[in-house]
Amino acid sequence: MNVGNAILHRRSIRKFSSKPIPQDDLIKILEAARWAPTATNRQKTRFIVVTDENLLKEIANNSKIVFFRQRHAAQCSSMIVVCIDSDSWIEEVGAAIQNILLMAIELGIGTCWIGAFNRSTVRKLLSVPNSYKIIALILLGYYSEQPDPPPRLDLGKITYLNKWRNPITKSKGTILPKSGPFSFVTKRLIDTSSDVKNSPLYESEDK
Ligand SMILES: Cc1cc2nc3c(=O)[nH]c(=O)nc-3n(C[C@H](O)[C@H](O)[C@H](O)COP(=O)(O)O)c2cc1C
Repeated sequence: MNVGNAILHRRSIRKFSSKPIPQDDLIKILEAARWAPTATNRQKTRFIVVTDENLLKEIANNSKIVFFRQRHAAQCSSMIVVCIDSDSWIEEVGAAIQNILLMAIELGIGTCWIGAFNRSTVRKLLSVPNSYKIIALILLGYYSEQPDPPPRLDLGKITYLNKWRNPITKSKGTILPKSGPFSFVTKRLIDTSSDVKNSPLYESEDK
């Protein structure tokens, strides 16, 4: 899959099968994380791969959004817990995680970035030292249903040319002409997959 399609097709997966991920594939995913950019190449991000069923269960029990347990956290067959040295640039984590998500797509593996979880319990469970922040849990697993893409704001709404609020225009109209005041609402009502297919990143795989 080319990078553009991987970016477009990556979805947060919230229903996994119990099929385990081969170790070679886990290594490829970690290798993708290793090659992410880091500030002055200091490489202060650490990745804990969790495959032990009991630990996975315990962590899942400690990942809640308000009062609701995130059930998908209990289904994944592996998880990568992403930590960073507290004195480092937190941005590095985002780059590493996005590499993980995209590499997983290439291998046919679904992912979900989990930010809502009990960090102190996870710290204890995995013996993470206090000098490291625990940023995210990345759920990994196989899946059968590709969720519909959640709506995105139009490019014309989130990008400016040279100055704040100065719209980017092509020779005629804005890049994405659908950026009317209600486009976010209407996108929720219409098929968002057309947004993916109309993206300049999209490349048909029928070729
Ligand atoms: C920092 C961060 C925290 C997130 N935390 C959660 C979470 O706790 N649980 C969850 O199911 N999804 C979580 N997500 C996934 C987002 O809900 C998801 O990316 C967003 O709804 C867009 O959907 P998509 O990923 O399918 O494009 C998180 C994403 C990010 C970047």
